Amino acid sequence: MSDVKEVLGNYSVDIIKTIKEDLSVITPENLGEASIYLTQAGGKMLRPALALIVSEAVGGNSKLALKTAAAIELIHTFSLIHDDIMDDDDMRRGMPSVHKVWGEDVAILAGDTLFSKAFEMIITSKDTTSEQNNNALATVADACVKICEGQALDMGFEQRFDVSEDEYMEMIFKKTGALIAAATKAGAIMGGASDEVIDAMYEYGRLIGLAFQIQDDYLDLAADEETLGKPIGSDIGKGKMTIIAIRGLASDDSGRLLEILKDDENSQSDIDEAIEILKECGAIEYAHNLALESVQKAKQVLEILPDSSSKQTLVDIADFVLERKA
Ligand code: IPE
Ligand code: IPE
Ligand code: MG
Ligand code: MG
Ligand code: MG
Repeated sequence: MSDVKEVLGNYSVDIIKTIKEDLSVITPENLGEASIYLTQAGGKMLRPALALIVSEAVGGNSKLALKTAAAIELIHTFSLIHDDIMDDDDMRRGMPSVHKVWGEDVAILAGDTLFSKAFEMIITSKDTTSEQNNNALATVADACVKICEGQALDMGFEQRFDVSEDEYMEMIFKKTGALIAAATKAGAIMGGASDEVIDAMYEYGRLIGLAFQIQDDYLDLAADEETLGKPIGSDIGKGKMTIIAIRGLASDDSGRLLEILKDDENSQSDIDEAIEILKECGAIEYAHNLALESVQKAKQVLEILPDSSSKQTLVDIADFVLERKA
């Protein structure tokens, strides 16, 4: 697993360089700083690395996918900045959130700037055909609409305690899976893959994306805050409908859990109690198994690709999604 982290780290060098070059022109200074801040704070760079690795795994040259990969990281970063405003979370990537440093107005603008820059980067990709650029652009635009739909569902679910598993799966596909699927699909497009392989790569991204959000929901309960770089217990505090909470609400101990999820002023001991209930009733294990199933299916989808070290990395990334601690 540390191998996957190392691989992501290696790919991130060129991605960060590309992002910095593209954002260096933003003025005034505070907007420029707020826009680049989270990229400088780190991040796993999973989505852009996936785009590059897929482009290689389908037989292409990852240099040609670099602008699109960097653009996808900008879209992800935009979504994080706006997400932290919506979730009222003070920490991101081990640093104060953008809105905590520059205020909500500048944070909204920084997100919008990254969003717009991303499309400019894709459309000005060099050495790929305009058809490839257009297809990558359409793929990313589709993911952006889905992110907004998914985030709207996520916020709407905070007022509801009867959310079904199917509704949850739709919500996480849209808010998280769609961009990961767009990254793997765009990598395939820029790598010159056939339509059949492009579709398969979208499916691979969708499946690991679902597992990725289930693991994110788990880490919100169980991770070490310093390693995670964002607040623990935030989802329980907000009454978020994660698969773990949904399953817990269907259990025998649902009464006390519901009380905690509804409460806006939970103490740490309430949150610890909720975590204990969720562990005891098997909700955490249930969620893990669901994510594992998705990862196994994702690995099967990869069978369409010829064997290569890039293909093996995609297999390893599928496992990494559930083994990660941050
Ligand atoms: C966090 O994504 C937001 C989710 C979709 C769960 P990551 O866990 O990939 O965040 P960074 O980019 O590594 O900070
Ligand atoms: C992430 O969902 C979705 C997007 C950023 C679009 P979360 O709200 O669970 O992400 P974290 O946990 O704050 O990173
Ligand atoms: Mg959040
Ligand atoms: Mg959120
Ligand atoms: Mg989360």
